[in-house]
Amino acid sequence: MNLPENIKDQIEDSIQSGVCCKFVRIDDNWGIKAFLNEDDRDRSQNNQLEYAEYGLAPPCECNRFEVGPYYCFVTRVAEILACPSVYRKERDEWDKIGKKNQKYIDNWQTMANDAGLPEVFDDHVGNFGWYEGDFVLIDCGND
Ligand SMILES: Nc1ncnc2c1ncn2[C@@H]1O[C@H](COP(=O)(O)OP(=O)(O)O)[C@@H](O)[C@H]1O
Ligand SMILES: [Mg+2]
Repeated sequence: MNLPENIKDQIEDSIQSGVCCKFVRIDDNWGIKAFLNEDDRDRSQNNQLEYAEYGLAPPCECNRFEVGPYYCFVTRVAEILACPSVYRKERDEWDKIGKKNQKYIDNWQTMANDAGLPEVFDDHVGNFGWYEGDFVLIDCGND
């Protein structure tokens, strides 16, 4: 995949970011996850590859690369439920979305357990989404 020339600026300016990852959408299907810490990137990518085998995460590529100070990998774009950085100021709305999706989160945990995959502790609604009809974990960095 060809990365846009200004990809480093896009990573830096990304509003879709959490504590350790910045996300940049490249097109309808593909995006980049960028981390300042190499171990965080490696753990997140390794876990995502594993979860994706069971339809519990969006597929991602195996290759790894660096953009400036960022350690990156390429992932399929999921339809997110609520981005924490956007909903930080709208607590009520965030709680509502959380309640609505709690059954899917519980079911996800059961399926991961049944597959013998690591439990997810950071299981707030902002870390889940939909990908091709599957309820998926988008933030696979915590174990
Ligand atoms: N596969 C994805 N598809 C769509 N958006 C994503 C994807 N992965 C991450 N994002 C966006 O980037 C944000 C930060 O990613 P996340 O993996 O949750 O990082 P952190 O560990 O920093 O919380 C998410 O809240 C979401 O908005
Ligand atoms: Mg997150």
